[in-house]
Amino acid sequence: MDAIILLGGPGAGKGTLAETLKTKTDFIHISTGDMFRAAMKAGTPVGLEAKAFIDRGELVPDEVVIRMIEERIKQDSQSARYMFDGFPRTIEQAKGLNELFASMDAAILHVFNLSVPSEVLIPRLTGRRTCRSCGAVYHIMYRPPKEEGVCDLDGGELYQRDDDCEKTILNRLEVYNRQTSPLIDFYKQSDLLRDVDASGDVRAIAGSVLNVIQS
Ligand code: AP5
Repeated sequence: MDAIILLGGPGAGKGTLAETLKTKTDFIHISTGDMFRAAMKAGTPVGLEAKAFIDRGELVPDEVVIRMIEERIKQDSQSARYMFDGFPRTIEQAKGLNELFASMDAAILHVFNLSVPSEVLIPRLTGRRTCRSCGAVYHIMYRPPKEEGVCDLDGGELYQRDDDCEKTILNRLEVYNRQTSPLIDFYKQSDLLRDVDASGDVRAIAGSVLNVIQS
């Protein structure tokens, strides 16, 4: 079992990159944000607990996140390969992942640090639209659907995430700087960090990440 980690602030393009990498590699995409949104939609206890934090742009408590990841990866075989998107997000979560992987004889291969100037992040998030049925991600300017408000893939309704309003976005950026950005040094120390300029074209970004994975 092994994994790569996509690290980056809100709107850095983790989910968009993961969609491309999924089609070109055998890594299983695990987004903790998507898992929480699915749990909220289903009204599970984890979803109900997470909702209050997500609505404010705060992080869900570490123990909830680590337990959810542990339960998820124990469903797969020992040969599974993961692409973590939005996890880990605190030093505690990173330590929890290290302990879990040590107990399973699994390895982290690379941590891709997607960096984008903060002035680019806000318009990316306020313009994001997501398909209610399949989860495909669009942008009203950078990646518009063929028909406004309708998913190209399955005709589903496109919606704006509740946490993509400007007030919550500003808090998410602040939370990222305070709680998640220390992971850059954490992974630099173990020589796993790969810096990626994530401000350009999606295909070029995916190409540079694939070069590292396949080298
Ligand atoms: P989560 O869903 O993980 O949100 P996030 O980290 O804030 O990241 P986003 O999904 O907003 O952005 P992204 O980097 O995936 O960007 P995307 O590709 O969509 O988490 C939500 C909440 O859940 C958190 O606030 C927290 O409460 C909770 N949570 C989740 N994980 C947790 C954890 N581990 N611990 C504790 N709490 C947790 O792109 C954004 C937009 O930009 C799209 O419209 C896209 O089309 C566009 N775009 C992307 N790339 C480009 C590009 N290169 N050029 C132009 N446009 C682009």
